[in-house]
Amino acid sequence: MEAPVRTRALLLAKTDHSPPDDSTPEQPCLIFRPDSHTISPREILQPSSSTHTAPSTMSLQIPMRGKSGGAPVTKAVILVGGPSRGTRFRPLSLDLPKPLFEVAGHPIIEHCFAAIARVQEIREVFIVGYYDESVFRDFIKDCSRTHPHISVKYLREYQALGTAGGLYHFRDAILKGRPDRFFVLNADVCCSFPLEQMLRLFEEKDAEAIILGTRVPNDSATNFGCIVSDAHSKRVLHYVEKPESHISNLINCGVYLFATEAIFPSIKSAIKRRADRPRLVSYPSSDALDSQYTPAGDDDDDGTKNEVIRLEQDILSDLADSRQFFVLETKDFWRQIKTAGSAVPANALYLTKAFQQQSEELAKPSANILPPVYIHPSAQIDPTAKLGPNVSIGPRAVIGAGVRIKESIVLEDAEIRHDACVLYSIIGWNSRIGAWARVEGTPTPIREHSTSVVKNGVKVQSITILGKECAVADEVRVQNCVCLPYKELKRDVANEVIM
Ligand code: GTP
Repeated sequence: MEAPVRTRALLLAKTDHSPPDDSTPEQPCLIFRPDSHTISPREILQPSSSTHTAPSTMSLQIPMRGKSGGAPVTKAVILVGGPSRGTRFRPLSLDLPKPLFEVAGHPIIEHCFAAIARVQEIREVFIVGYYDESVFRDFIKDCSRTHPHISVKYLREYQALGTAGGLYHFRDAILKGRPDRFFVLNADVCCSFPLEQMLRLFEEKDAEAIILGTRVPNDSATNFGCIVSDAHSKRVLHYVEKPESHISNLINCGVYLFATEAIFPSIKSAIKRRADRPRLVSYPSSDALDSQYTPAGDDDDDGTKNEVIRLEQDILSDLADSRQFFVLETKDFWRQIKTAGSAVPANALYLTKAFQQQSEELAKPSANILPPVYIHPSAQIDPTAKLGPNVSIGPRAVIGAGVRIKESIVLEDAEIRHDACVLYSIIGWNSRIGAWARVEGTPTPIREHSTSVVKNGVKVQSITILGKECAVADEVRVQNCVCLPYKELKRDVANEVIM
C-alpha cells in the first residue's frame, strides 16, 4: 500500500518546484505565531487569515537558483527542540536545557554556532525550538558580541512541530532576503561540521540537498537514519530512518544543506500528504512510539497532533527520489548527544579537536596535566591534583590535593576533596565528593555509539552521573550509577539509578 502513496507524493514534490505566487492559496504567507495558537495542516495549506498573514513587505518568493544574481546567499538553522525533548539527558537536563550543557568548556549549541560562524558567507542564523524565549537570550547576546556581523535569532514554535515542521512554520523568516540555500544542524550532534565541504559538494553537483553521513559499525546502523548512496556519484538513492533490517552502515549525521527552492515544496507535499491521510500520526521522536497509532476520530479538531513533520521520517526518503540529493561522507568524528553519558565522549572528541588545533583555551600540558584538559579560569586546582586526559573543569570548581580526574566533566561550583578519584563521570553543579572517595564509570570505546554496558546481565549506564548538589561521603565508592539531584551517598553503590 505504501508505494502508490509515495509515488503520488513524489509527483507533488516534483511539480511544486516553481517559485510560489503569493496570491494563490497554494503558498500561504505564514509567520511567527503567538505560542498559544495552534494551526492544523489544513490551515497551513490554505491562505493565511488576515491576522496571520505576513505584511506585504515579507512577500515570499522562493529564489530560483542562478536568478538571484551575485553571490549565493546562505543561512543556517540550528534545531534545538524543547523542554519535552532531551529526556534521555536526565538528570542533567533537569536543571539546564540540553543545548546549553557545557562540553569541552562550551555549551553544546556553541560548538554548532562556531562551525556556522566559520562559513564566511553566512550572515543569519536561526535557532528554532519550543523552549521559552528567555532560554537562549544570554547565549544569543554572547554570539552577537563575539560575531557582530552575524544576526542570530530565536524562533519559538508554539508546540513541537518536528524537525521539518519548524522550518516550514518559519519559512517567511528563513526566506527573507531570498537565500539560495541554508544549513540545518541538529543541536544534539557532536562533530567537526564540515560545512564548507558540504557547500563545495552542493555547488559541484548543482544539488538540491546535501546530507552529512558517517559510517558506523554494521550492528548499530539500524539505530540511525540509513543512507544508500551511489559510491561514485555520491547521490542518495534511498533513505530509511531506523530501518528494521540492515540496508547500509552510512548513517545520517543530522547536518543538512538544502536549496530553498527544493526543501519547502517537499515539506509542503508532506503536509499535504498528512492532511490527506490524517490517521497516520507522526511523532517528534521515538520516545512516543507506544502511542504511534491513533484510533479513528482521535485527532484533535484542530488537527494539532498531525502537525509534526520530521525531516527524517517524512522528507528525506522523498528527497532521495529526486535526482539532486547527495551525501558527503565525513571520516572525521561524529557522535550524537542523546543520553547524559554521551556528554563524556563528546567532551573527549571536542577537547581532542581543540588540542589538535592548538587551542589557547586548553590547560598547558605538564606532569600533572595530561592533555587535553580544559580548566575554567575561575576554577581552583591544587598543583598536586592530576587531571586528564579528556577532562573539563567548570567555573569555580575546587579540586583538592592528590585528586585524580580522568575522562570526566566537573561542573560549576563542584568540589572534589583531597585524594578523591573521578573517572568516566560527570559531577553535577555544586556537588561534593569526599576525601578518598572514588566515583567512576566504565570506559567504552570512543567511537562506540552507546554509553551503556552490561554488568551482571543487566544493562547499566557506563558513565557515572551525579546530578546537581549531590554529595558523596569520604571514602565511598560510586560505580556506574546515575544519581538524581540533591542525593547524599553515604555507602558504596554500583550499577544503580539513585532516586
Ligand atoms: P530520536 O533520535 O528519534 O529518539 O529523537 P530525538 O528527539 O532525540 O531527536 P531527533 O533526531 O528527533 O531530533 C534531532 C534534533 O532536532 C535535536 O536537536 C532535537 O532537539 C531537534 N528537534 C526534535 N524535534 C523538534 C521539534 O519539534 N522542533 C524543533 N525545533 N527541534 C526539534
